[in-house]
Amino acid sequence: MKQLLSFINLINNSRRPLFFTGAGISTESGIPDFRGPSGFWKTNTPIYFKDFISSESARRDSWQRNINLSKKLSKVKPNDGHLALKDIMERNKKSYLITQNVDNLHQDSGVPEKKITELHGNSTYANCLSCYKKYSLKIVHEPFVKKGLIIPCDNCGGLLKTATISFGQPMPEEEMEIALLKAAKADLFVVIGSSLAVYPAAGLPKIAQESGSKLVILNAEPTELDSIFDLVVHQKIGIFLKKVAKNI
Ligand code: APR
Repeated sequence: MKQLLSFINLINNSRRPLFFTGAGISTESGIPDFRGPSGFWKTNTPIYFKDFISSESARRDSWQRNINLSKKLSKVKPNDGHLALKDIMERNKKSYLITQNVDNLHQDSGVPEKKITELHGNSTYANCLSCYKKYSLKIVHEPFVKKGLIIPCDNCGGLLKTATISFGQPMPEEEMEIALLKAAKADLFVVIGSSLAVYPAAGLPKIAQESGSKLVILNAEPTELDSIFDLVVHQKIGIFLKKVAKNI
């Protein structure tokens, strides 16, 4: 109860709250996280960007994963955590959200696009790695599923890839710039559902703190960075955030 009151207080007293989410906010929608007890990396290995570029079989694996994820995403909905965060953000027009997630569930929950920066891209569409032309996944999935064909970009012949950032792929410059700027201006930085294991994203809380921000983390398990936080809440996101949204 004490932690809930402290969390609510910090939100209510914040002028520029910055929310930072990871895969943990989507597990209650049925999407596994990466490093939790039944995380995706427990049974899969990451496909590195250099392998995607150099190896056709890596591209096949990557597209098959995206087809599996798309099937899952077509059935999932934003959960209480997403909906509560949307409500909390609505209480302060200076709220902003940086997410590591690629599932589009924050957008689906009603958080306006202009209040969201996706650091690791979005898995609900694809683009050409050379000319950046955007593609609906259907156009790429169909020939792959029907004939095992991975089509090239019809504009420049380049490689098509889902619009997510893989390990070893350069971070999106504009999104990183926005994230760094928002972190430097925030007076409250709230991490929700992230193990803070992947840089440069995991470096953002420290950047916010160095600019005077209070740090809060809501996560089921401890993280390497818990000790730098002013408030550490090890609770399930959905139920906790719902209580916060009801009482701010
Ligand atoms: N409530 C609270 N915490 C939860 C819940 C829940 N319902 N479900 C999962 N968690 C916690 C887990 O305990 C874990 O510590 O969320 C955290 C999710 O951490 P990760 O799986 O590492 O996900 P994330 O931090 O988003 O990973 C960062 O790594 O693989 C890359 O690109 C991928 O964006 C991802 C990045």
